[in-house]
Amino acid sequence: MSLSYLATTPISSPTTTISGNPLPRSAIHTCRSVRLSNRTPYTSCELNHEPSRNGSIDRRNLLLGLGGLFGSTAAVNKNAFGTPLQPFDSTTCHDAIDDETEEVVKCCPPYKTANMVDFTPPSPRDPLRIRKPAHKYNSDDIAKFEAAIAKMKALPDNHPWSFKQQAAIHCTYCNGAFYQLNTTIELQIHQSWFFLPWHRYYLYFWERILGKLIGDDTFAIPYWNWDTREGMWFPKMYQKSTSPLYDEARNTDHYNKLMDYGCEEAYCNRKKTDELITYNLARIFKTFQGDNLKVPSLFMGMETRAGEKSVGGGSLEQLLHNGIHSWAGKPNSPYHDMGNFVTAARDPVFFAHHGNVDRMWYIYTKLRKLYGETSTFKYGSDWLQSSFVFYDENHQVVKVKVKNCLTPESLGYTYDSSETHEWAGIRPKYRKLRNAELKRREGDSLKLNPASEFGSKPRNLTEPIRALVQRPPTSGTKDEKEDSVEVLFIEDIIVPHGSPARFDVYVAKPTAEELVGQEEFAGSFVNVPHSHHESSNGAHGSSLQLGITSLLKDIDAEASEQLVVSLIPRNGEVTVGGVKIGLVHVNYDDDV
Ligand code: C2O
Repeated sequence: MSLSYLATTPISSPTTTISGNPLPRSAIHTCRSVRLSNRTPYTSCELNHEPSRNGSIDRRNLLLGLGGLFGSTAAVNKNAFGTPLQPFDSTTCHDAIDDETEEVVKCCPPYKTANMVDFTPPSPRDPLRIRKPAHKYNSDDIAKFEAAIAKMKALPDNHPWSFKQQAAIHCTYCNGAFYQLNTTIELQIHQSWFFLPWHRYYLYFWERILGKLIGDDTFAIPYWNWDTREGMWFPKMYQKSTSPLYDEARNTDHYNKLMDYGCEEAYCNRKKTDELITYNLARIFKTFQGDNLKVPSLFMGMETRAGEKSVGGGSLEQLLHNGIHSWAGKPNSPYHDMGNFVTAARDPVFFAHHGNVDRMWYIYTKLRKLYGETSTFKYGSDWLQSSFVFYDENHQVVKVKVKNCLTPESLGYTYDSSETHEWAGIRPKYRKLRNAELKRREGDSLKLNPASEFGSKPRNLTEPIRALVQRPPTSGTKDEKEDSVEVLFIEDIIVPHGSPARFDVYVAKPTAEELVGQEEFAGSFVNVPHSHHESSNGAHGSSLQLGITSLLKDIDAEASEQLVVSLIPRNGEVTVGGVKIGLVHVNYDDDV
């Protein structure tokens, strides 16, 4: 039984026990040298290694997701390079910038010097706080939650617990208010492996502060359960204009509209509720697909260390998280609140959205565990030791480390577990719909742009690009194949400052009679405006990594030497530097 089992087989529940040899693999891995571009070394045993900070070859440099290396050396103090992210120095905060409006934003913490202590996790003897879905809140639940938010909103603006200060924390870690310690590299926790742990802590303190304010130490926050059919709507309790949960800056057209994250435009416009739900559930399934279970960075985001820039979010951040931010925020500029990270946490629904993002990570962790693997990164001690700063529910500034937040239970809360995971069994229904859809569109493919080489220059995505891309050699034993996943890399994606942007990626097998055969959805790039103004040339490229091993089975392309990769612009301006396909080696927990 391999992790790719999940790519083809419905699971009934993440708590199902699947027996048997969890992760077959050869005793000695074949290491493939793959260097996608001279700027993005990512995995191999024999790469042209970048020297580490002590001048030797650092084993960590052999890992997938070292993309953070590029462009990062210019302004970096040597001691700050390639180590776990350090907490900021609160005396060095400066004004942040809203890249969309180019306005100055004041989001420095209301404390300058503070006596910072190490975080102590809550006692395992305390009762667990149980987070419930927002759509299942009864009137008592709502009243309690509203009372807590009202109290938070009533605090003076400069109080570290005030709603305003709590919202500003998001800006602090996202819009350039701090540089990473001893560098001029902006502190940015999105688009990297910091994304999930940082937001987990952010919600943890927010929840505890709210509980303190109403004197309830079992208080738990709601989550927006958008992975279930009942939860794919804007939760009602946030829509009442007299409620403290209300926020004006939203797309109110979406108040009574089924969410359409990641579905195709033509398809969404059909508005058949059940079909759209099926498409949505298939996107959830895709987020948890086998490749993503094998390689944590594909799900959680690329590795980033001190002195490096964040360059790529995982499937959870890109496809689901970013898409829903844009869906909830205002439809036109400024995209505040939810549609721009500088303001996102000013909308109380932000915390419900992130509750579910956090829960997705929790489910991922449980799925990995089924196969005997932890959901951490191999050689990830730099991730585990990375730290952030928060102001806690006891008026103390604390330094937290990733290693203390690996499960919700270790932080004293959990998620309502009564639900089923409809997405886990959605494949047959989705395939049926998808095939019918492709049949209807059969004639269309002839009208599409012909596929050709992407070329060596960056391309502006003003119209769909269909690129013929070479696959890596597919030789190797069955075990060796089990030990690697095939990944599509869309590199150096540049979005003008402060703009939303989106493109979808499809993969097809080249066929003789048609230039493009049956296309299958591989993933989306979604940009929510955020800051990246530290670079001298205006912007830095990010990358999108999509596991395609099981997709190739779906479209019967396992034997093809080339694939047609389609980049379909949906929104905004975007430039793409290149499209490549590589094999990424899977690291198992017990590898030595
Ligand atoms: Cu920090 Cu949903 O963004």
